[in-house]
Amino acid sequence: MTNGIDLSGRTAIITGASRGIGLAAAQAIAAAGGNVVLTSRSQESADVAAAQVAGTALGVAAHAVDEDAARRCVDLTLETFGSIDILVNNAGTNPAYGPVIDQDHGQFVKTFDVNLWAPILWTSLVTRAWMGEHGGSVVNTASIGGMGFEANLGLYNASKSALIHLTKQMALELSPKIRVNSVAPGVVRTRLAATLWQEHEQQVCDATALDRIGEPADIGAAITFLASDAASWVTGETMVIDGGQRLGDPTLFRKGATGA
Ligand SMILES: NC(=O)c1ccc[n+]([C@@H]2O[C@H](COP(=O)([O-])OP(=O)(O)OC[C@H]3O[C@@H](n4cnc5c(N)ncnc54)[C@H](OP(=O)(O)O)[C@@H]3O)[C@@H](O)[C@H]2O)c1
Repeated sequence: MTNGIDLSGRTAIITGASRGIGLAAAQAIAAAGGNVVLTSRSQESADVAAAQVAGTALGVAAHAVDEDAARRCVDLTLETFGSIDILVNNAGTNPAYGPVIDQDHGQFVKTFDVNLWAPILWTSLVTRAWMGEHGGSVVNTASIGGMGFEANLGLYNASKSALIHLTKQMALELSPKIRVNSVAPGVVRTRLAATLWQEHEQQVCDATALDRIGEPADIGAAITFLASDAASWVTGETMVIDGGQRLGDPTLFRKGATGA
């Protein structure tokens, strides 16, 4: 049990869990007592990540859009642990940087395949294999980028916006047995987001009400909450976890800033 959340006896699959937010989610779910299955494109990375989890953890190689690999992962999870109660659709990619009209079809397909099709694929597989009959909770990793507009991130943000929409659609389609929610992180200290913070972390902190960038564990805790019975009356929602980044420049609001 952690923070009052008890996931003992539950099993979670977390896609894209070799590092960053996915690994932190696996660690948080395991800390709450859950069994975790961590996927990565490489078996070695999946094994290394599983070894960083204190609890029952299994690493499985599965490219997020490889249907055969996803099916094998689902089957192996059921054989090993006997249930799939939680699915975290976390694997994400951003190969497309720049104005939308400068992107090519390959970048579009990769972005939307991994960020949007994979959550549909994995949710479909776990629903048919377990959750459709027994119930469960799905958490998608979206982004605050999917709620606004940013230079150079248009294609990625469109995929996350669609994932937020899809979260609501799937919540309705899979109700009442399966809850489907999303987290929408702000800038978090991970490899994927390195260009957003690495060379100007102080600037990002200054524009964040809570004065720091996110850590993967901040998002892992929110994912664990949404996956658990503590959120048993929450579905179709997207929880923003961004330290206040969406609120705007906090320095304009702080005491003395207006000279009043
Ligand atoms: N960091 C942020 O500021 C931020 C903000 C909003 C949303 N997000 C979202 O958070 C999620 C996790 O990203 P992160 O920031 O934690 O990045 P990260 O540390 O770079 O981790 C990305 C993870 O996704 C996996 N992955 C990438 N492509 C994959 C594929 N085709 N199949 C399976 N796994 C794949 C990687 O595994 P391998 O390389 O080992 O295969 C890795 O485990 C993504 O959906 C991202 O869009 C991040």
